[in-house]
Amino acid sequence: MKKLVLALAAFLPLAPSLAQNFIPNYDEEKVPDYVLPDPLRFANGQRVESAADWENRKLETLRLFEEEMFGISPAWDGQMRVQELSRNEEALGGKAVQREVKLTLERKGQTVDLVLLTFLPKGVDKAPMFVGLNFYGNHTISMDEAIQVTKSWIRNNADMGYTNNQASDRNRGSRVTNWPVQDMVDRGYGLATLYYGDIDPDFDDGFANGVHALFLDEVRNENSWGSVAAWAWGISRVVDYLEDVPGVDRGRLAVVGHSRLGKAALWAAAVDPRFSMAISNNSGCGGAALSRRRFGETVERINTSFPHWFNQRFRYYNKEEDSLPMDQHQLIALLAPNPVYIASAADDLWADPKGEFLSAVAATPVYQFLGKEGMPVSEWPSIEVPVMGTLGYHVRTGGHGMLYYDWMQYLDFADKHWK
Ligand code: GCU
Repeated sequence: MKKLVLALAAFLPLAPSLAQNFIPNYDEEKVPDYVLPDPLRFANGQRVESAADWENRKLETLRLFEEEMFGISPAWDGQMRVQELSRNEEALGGKAVQREVKLTLERKGQTVDLVLLTFLPKGVDKAPMFVGLNFYGNHTISMDEAIQVTKSWIRNNADMGYTNNQASDRNRGSRVTNWPVQDMVDRGYGLATLYYGDIDPDFDDGFANGVHALFLDEVRNENSWGSVAAWAWGISRVVDYLEDVPGVDRGRLAVVGHSRLGKAALWAAAVDPRFSMAISNNSGCGGAALSRRRFGETVERINTSFPHWFNQRFRYYNKEEDSLPMDQHQLIALLAPNPVYIASAADDLWADPKGEFLSAVAATPVYQFLGKEGMPVSEWPSIEVPVMGTLGYHVRTGGHGMLYYDWMQYLDFADKHWK
């Protein structure tokens, strides 16, 4: 029956009315009773009793997320060419080296270009780095005219001056406050960022473009990777590059992302052990928020509005959250014992701020099992009272966005764990 439903789901066009008629629940009283899967118990009911058991349970959990949600990403068996596009040795008041490099991924005659912008603090032998995708192009996070305007497909946006799915430089620097690079550099951290549409344009294209196009020889099935997995996969290619860059501390790389890119950041950290820290900003449904709570965006709603984000099997759980063999606290648990910070915004109910916090609480037994603190509190913290254990959390005032306040907590969290 499961298979039949999935087969049908794959061929039936998704009814737009589902998305239009959806009324989100924002009432805590109406959150249904639910039981979360125990991260420390195997699917067969056996308890995790040793570190070796946890390694096996971790693999089992990773498979569940791959097979039932994000899709299985291919191993990278192609080549990467690196071309420097620009370099400024005196960036940010002379405190940083800024570079833009083109990473050309090539496989079986197909190529994809990722244009990466990096800032490395000067006078630091090996700098820890934040690695994160941006929404509107590298040129939006700095005023520097040397930074290219992306040539990749971009969603039209009247405010940004983006028409015909092309970016324009009218909004150079418009995201400077969302990426406070000067503060990062002043505190000894570097940043590597690229436009997420370089990796995979964010529309339902039948998985024919972006990095999916490098693997057109592979037959797709209900487990195949969606766009969130593709963005995470692209982040790993950035790490392939960063590993060879002098001045980068490859043991201290933090992946960071906002919203859909926060979902991608968490998945990137789960599949790529080269990340030793992850930061999720308002990642919501499919990110840090527990699916079973059905508060704000739900599994059905996300699969309907964004049919290309996850694999086909995830649609089976539309309105069937209790049948999920895992929930999002286990995505956090997959990152244990590494530090993870989860940030919510009080008015961002769509992303279920409380559900994001409860995920960290429910991941904590795994941290404790591994001898770490996890989340130090189990009561939802007050507004703008950050909590920082191995798992960190805050809920700030205001709505959806990655703001200066959020970054200041990330820098403190990095200081706490890395200095
Ligand atoms: C939509 C979507 C969310 C997503 C957000 C974003 O609101 O429903 O799941 O996180 O876009 O990426 O900004």
